[in-house]
Amino acid sequence: MRLLVTGGAGFIGANFVHRAVGRGDEVTVYDSLTYAGNPANLAGLEGSPGYRFVHADICDRLHPG
Ligand SMILES: NC(=O)c1ccc[n+]([C@@H]2O[C@H](COP(=O)([O-])OP(=O)(O)OC[C@H]3O[C@@H](n4cnc5c(N)ncnc54)[C@H](O)[C@@H]3O)[C@@H](O)[C@H]2O)c1
Repeated sequence: MRLLVTGGAGFIGANFVHRAVGRGDEVTVYDSLTYAGNPANLAGLEGSPGYRFVHADICDRLHPG
């Protein structure tokens, strides 16, 4: 399964991401790393097949206009 996890560096998201990557899902984490986000929560996932981290805010506009 291909998953986009917003807030994936937070408490709930990171636990979910570890589980999803562990079962073979393709996971993109999208997180702005506020005070609540901690990259250490995702430690060990770099290099896992299909795993990707995007440092961005869900409030950002993807397409102007
Ligand atoms: N050790 C613990 O027991 C523990 C620790 C932390 C939280 N909690 C509990 O867990 C619940 C909340 O957990 P959670 O994982 O939902 O929230 P969280 O606050 O732990 O994480 C939210 C994540 O969303 C990200 N984020 C926030 N705004 C964003 C934006 N605009 N764009 C992109 N990313 C954004 C943050 O950087 C963070 O990584 C609460 O009930 C809290 O009390 C428990």
